[in-house]
Amino acid sequence: MTDNYKEITEQDDYIEQAGRIVRDRSIEAGRDMTYHVTTFGCQMNARDSEKLTGILEACGYVYEEEESLADFVIYNTCTIRDNADQKLYGHLGSLVNIKKRRSDMIIAVCGCLPQEKSAFEKIKNSYSFVDLIFGTHNLFDFPRLLVKVLTRENTKGKGHLVSEIWDGTDRIVEDIPVKRNYSFKSGVNIMFGCNNFCSYCIVPYVRGRERSRESADIISEIRSLAADGVVEVMLLGQNVNSYGKGLDENISFAQLLKQVEKIEGIKRIRFMTSHPKDLSDELIDVMASSEKICKHIHLPLQSGSTKLLRSMNRQYTKEQYIELALKIREKITDIAITTDLIIGYPGESEDDIEDTLDVIEKVRFDGAFTFIYSKRSGTPAASMPDQIPEEVAKKRFARVLDKVQQMSCEMAAKNEGRVLDVLVEDINRQDPGLVTGRLSNNLTVHFPGDPSLIGRIVPVKLTECKGFYYIGE
Ligand code: SAH
Ligand code: SF4
Ligand code: F3S
Repeated sequence: MTDNYKEITEQDDYIEQAGRIVRDRSIEAGRDMTYHVTTFGCQMNARDSEKLTGILEACGYVYEEEESLADFVIYNTCTIRDNADQKLYGHLGSLVNIKKRRSDMIIAVCGCLPQEKSAFEKIKNSYSFVDLIFGTHNLFDFPRLLVKVLTRENTKGKGHLVSEIWDGTDRIVEDIPVKRNYSFKSGVNIMFGCNNFCSYCIVPYVRGRERSRESADIISEIRSLAADGVVEVMLLGQNVNSYGKGLDENISFAQLLKQVEKIEGIKRIRFMTSHPKDLSDELIDVMASSEKICKHIHLPLQSGSTKLLRSMNRQYTKEQYIELALKIREKITDIAITTDLIIGYPGESEDDIEDTLDVIEKVRFDGAFTFIYSKRSGTPAASMPDQIPEEVAKKRFARVLDKVQQMSCEMAAKNEGRVLDVLVEDINRQDPGLVTGRLSNNLTVHFPGDPSLIGRIVPVKLTECKGFYYIGE
């Protein structure tokens, strides 16, 4: 019996136990027991939330749209920047009075934020009504923790809090129940954690060391997703280009992509995120010759200044990045390159901003997420001298944002008038006569259509470019 088999059998037992308790409570209340999952942060967290939801539904909980009305409320948190932390505290603050009235409501916090010791203490002490806290490494253990919280003796006051945070893990638990947010597309974890320790970044501390899943497990998950109607997969990892390191099998990310490409039923393949330092020629070739891999690569630059890149521990120079991006553009027709930028990193000067603007100009990004540097305690950058005053960072941010927006509008305008394939994702929120879908290059298109199109790939004429999206027909 493998380790994973044992783990899952145990979790199944806990799901059954929790299910009995939830059923009893429903009978007593004369209504369904309900849950609400709120997710902050990246695609990785979104995927984790699908697992939380899968477990809750397997236990008999039913979705409640209104957070404050649910019997079980869980926050899957992010701590990448301070505003992510503040989002959680805002939500918790709004529950104080509700929880006073409804002491049977269970409030849980999990994910990246409580992995950080001081944040854990803050939640425990300042929001002492929280019932359950766990982290990223023991998400698979949620069924057992759920039983623990449902069967505890005190539901308030001393001893009411169930909390378990692990410092790290080298394990990967397979086959956790999942409830997907979309029927036709899905994230697929290919690796967990990060070993890069970029000087500003908290992720390696809260997500632990990098570990790849066995390719056979990934392929069999994608096969069953395809059998279940999924046409687009997004392969997820903090640095997908280093996929395969540490596995017994000899496999690169490019080779994994080739295997995914062969799976029948899968029509589009995306991935996130690529670290420039590990992007291979092999990957570029596989992308260039693939029918299914989308024409989009997210390639975080962070800064155009070699001096700052060195301080950030990014392991590439301004020139190396430009060379790589231009090679990608040359070899993969119609590819969209998007990026992440950090403004206000310690030691940043006006010259460094000029370097960043120069790279934007040369690479001509199709899109960029621009962030103001946020100090994360425990990271090397937090204790660096020359922290940049907020007002200075804000001014520089506005300049860079301006440039980035102008550039992405120019890039998008090039596709006006073309007919391109769109995967229809949703009814348009503002106008129910329209549907919204995505191009291979990740830009959105709104066009007249009905709900029967959702999940289908259809050719659409891009009649008008609105900067970041198109109107089509
Ligand atoms: N693994 C991905 C990035 C994950 S975090 C990669 O390396 O490409 C997503 C983005 O958040 C990063 O690319 C970076 O631009 C931003 N970010 C991370 N830490 C930050 C911080 N302390 N302040 C501001 N932005 C940050
Ligand atoms: Fe953070 Fe760098 Fe790892 Fe990305 S590669 S998650 S920015 S440490
Ligand atoms: Fe945030 Fe954790 Fe993702 S810190 S960005 S949710 S890995």
